[in-house]
Amino acid sequence: MNTKRLTIAESAAAAEILRRGGLVALPTETVYGLGANGLDAAAVRRIFEAKGRPQDNPLILHIPDAGWLERYCLDVPELAYWLAAAFWPGPLTMILRRRPIVPDATTGGLTTVGVRCPRHEAALAVIAAADVPIAAPSANTSGRPSCTTAADVLEDMDGKVDAVLDGGPCAVGVESTILDLTVTPPRLLRPGGLPLEELQRVCGTVAVDEAVTRQMGEGEHPRAPGMKYRHYAPKAPVTVVTGEAERSAAYIRAQITPSGGVICFDEYAPLFAQYPVQRLGSAADKGEQARRVFDALRAFDATGVTEIWAQCPDNAGLGFAIGNRLKKAAGFHVIDADGEEGRV
Ligand code: TXA
Ligand code: MG
Repeated sequence: MNTKRLTIAESAAAAEILRRGGLVALPTETVYGLGANGLDAAAVRRIFEAKGRPQDNPLILHIPDAGWLERYCLDVPELAYWLAAAFWPGPLTMILRRRPIVPDATTGGLTTVGVRCPRHEAALAVIAAADVPIAAPSANTSGRPSCTTAADVLEDMDGKVDAVLDGGPCAVGVESTILDLTVTPPRLLRPGGLPLEELQRVCGTVAVDEAVTRQMGEGEHPRAPGMKYRHYAPKAPVTVVTGEAERSAAYIRAQITPSGGVICFDEYAPLFAQYPVQRLGSAADKGEQARRVFDALRAFDATGVTEIWAQCPDNAGLGFAIGNRLKKAAGFHVIDADGEEGRV
């Protein structure tokens, strides 16, 4: 298959491909998504094939506004509308009970469905023109870091999808925050581009699912099926070092072997001049760290490093999502430079 490159001015062409059952990779504010008509089971199955994604891992439906919630979801609580008013369009996915019109292929057979309204003009234009909800997982090959540019998408999906709509680099860089609204209190299934603190402001108490902070074992069933899979992982094993930045840098400096690589805050890059280094951005700039984290993980695959050491921000704000992606890439192999080993 020849993968077409479309510009953001070509939303009508992208919508036409989607309406005919094709696959289009689309930019969103978080990461690129691999889109198909979410009501068309055959089209959705092609997403799973292109990504090599396990069939039990459900997809998020992308909709243009909260007015579409009732079409695809049952028993929508008032809280969903408050959250939509506060954060949509934006990096929040809500898990709600699904209506039968949403095919099993999209929800992995679950009785719930994830929905979100992306904050991206081109994505919204495509959804409006297609006039169907767009099912879209992140556009990476299953298990690889998510894609934040059209070039990343082509690296994984060239020849496997009908088109890629190039919207430039993604503004947020980590995927949406996932909140399960079918339980009380609402439960965070994945930290993401919308900080937990923002959700707490609207919801009050928010429970944090255990799959967010530890590796799920064989036979365990996290509420977000995707959280059980090894994810975002470069070829070389990753060790995340948490704790105060100066101490984590010193720890890595002491432990790294000659064939190691480093993901670090800009300020500490000079310490690792003789190693392949991916800078995350300044230690104080979590926005930049979020935009850089997947690229940093991807970049090592083109080098010969045999181990990767990563500094990690604290859990406040976007730090929760950035740290989660690094820790997942590390299979939750985490060392705390401030003390206790293995604390997450
Ligand atoms: O920012 C994002 O959310 C991006 C962009 C493209 O919108 N999409 C994305 O999709 O990250 P994906 O498929 O890579 O991650 C979705 C996660 C998976 O872990 C999946 O298991 C979980 O959401 N999920 C989807 N539907 C669910 C449901 N009904 N119940 C629980 N978890 C669900
Ligand atoms: Mg993904």
